[in-house]
Amino acid sequence: MGVWVDSHFLVSPSFFLVLALVCFQGNASANVSADGCDLFTGRWVFDPSYPLYSASACPFIEREFTCQKNGRQDLLYTQYRWQPLDCTLTRFNASEFVEKFRGKSIMFVGDSLSRNQWQSLTCMIHSAIPNAKFNITRVGDVSIFEFLDYEVKVMLDRSVYLVDVVKEKIGRVLKLDSIERGKLWKGIDMLIFNTWHWWNRRGPTQPWDYIEVGGVIKKDMDRMLAFETALNTWAGWVDANIDPAKSLVFFQGISPSHYNGSSWNEPSAKNCLGQKQPLLGTTYPGGLPPALDVLKKVLETVKKPVKLLDITMLSLLRKDGHPSMYGLGGPTGMDCSHWCLAGVPDTWNEILYNLIL
Ligand SMILES: *[C@@H]1O[C@H](CO)[C@@H](O)[C@H](O)[C@H]1NC(C)=O
Ligand SMILES: *[C@@H]1O[C@H](CO)[C@@H](O)[C@H](O)[C@H]1NC(C)=O
Ligand SMILES: *[C@@H]1O[C@H](CO)[C@@H](O)[C@H](O)[C@H]1NC(C)=O
Ligand SMILES: *[C@@H]1O[C@H](CO)[C@@H](O)[C@H](O)[C@H]1NC(C)=O
Repeated sequence: MGVWVDSHFLVSPSFFLVLALVCFQGNASANVSADGCDLFTGRWVFDPSYPLYSASACPFIEREFTCQKNGRQDLLYTQYRWQPLDCTLTRFNASEFVEKFRGKSIMFVGDSLSRNQWQSLTCMIHSAIPNAKFNITRVGDVSIFEFLDYEVKVMLDRSVYLVDVVKEKIGRVLKLDSIERGKLWKGIDMLIFNTWHWWNRRGPTQPWDYIEVGGVIKKDMDRMLAFETALNTWAGWVDANIDPAKSLVFFQGISPSHYNGSSWNEPSAKNCLGQKQPLLGTTYPGGLPPALDVLKKVLETVKKPVKLLDITMLSLLRKDGHPSMYGLGGPTGMDCSHWCLAGVPDTWNEILYNLIL
């Protein structure tokens, strides 16, 4: 107890408990910060004091996300700040963040959208305290970015489905009821999970041959149902393994793609190429993806405190934030799923910061 209460907060453990209840009880429906403001409903406003960093200040950002280096010329998209309707976000303070996590560990678990957010966070910290020594290593599927002076580890476990994919005699089996991999997540001080983008993958890049659920092996099944089943397995893992006095648990939410202009009332747009500004309203014409409902439904069943980092709507408004042809695929690729850095994931992290302040 008290791991999260540093003496300089000058609060008693019981106050912390109340705060924790306000912040984290009610789980998915608790879309409010400690002071009661909904951080996920709002609009994007132009603010020339952004971005929080220049991409060139982070030599370790992978090519996938370095849009300017890949030739993107417009920069306006980096200068929008997320403005919740009823309050203003506290600007990210890297020193405060690493002090808060001194001697602690943070882990993002999920697919490349988790990598996007992981790189954003390490960059937000490094660019603000460039003289702080760091070490980037990789052990198996886990990438570890350690800020040595603070002994803060910011990690990424690449696990695109959260549940296990196991090589067996018949082939690679996606096991919806199995989450052995969770052993890597035990005891981490802050976990941020995500899975979605791989559930609809078919053809040569689908990384499994069979799907197993309830002891039955199938060639395929309804993908949304598979997603939900895996999330339920994950929810069971959280309830069985998380010690709320030690670990904070977040779910990243569904990061949206922009491949059809009809969904933002621009039917002539076939993808996100050439989009230079966000939508300036508070809602997205195309509505929210159904996967978000599934996720929220499952989060409501988790008994341990888990907070939804509900970035879907605010990211839907950012049709301008993707690499488009300035990503890994180059001119022939069209990436309207990931996000340029600096960019939208910085806001996800800024909100995360506000939720744990
Ligand atoms: C919280 O989110 C729920 C559903 O996502 C929504 O109905 C509710 O209005 C939100 N609460 C606030 C205070 O915005
Ligand atoms: C960031 O936090 C540190 C430590 O709390 C503080 O000294 C500093 O003034 C803050 N920086 C800004 C820009 O608020
Ligand atoms: C960086 O990490 C590697 C692998 O864990 C380790 O061998 C090395 O000593 C570390 N370097 C520093 C400066 O801590
Ligand atoms: C884009 O969305 C519109 C409206 O939902 C739909 O009619 C159209 O077929 C979609 N276009 C593509 C290429 O999927």
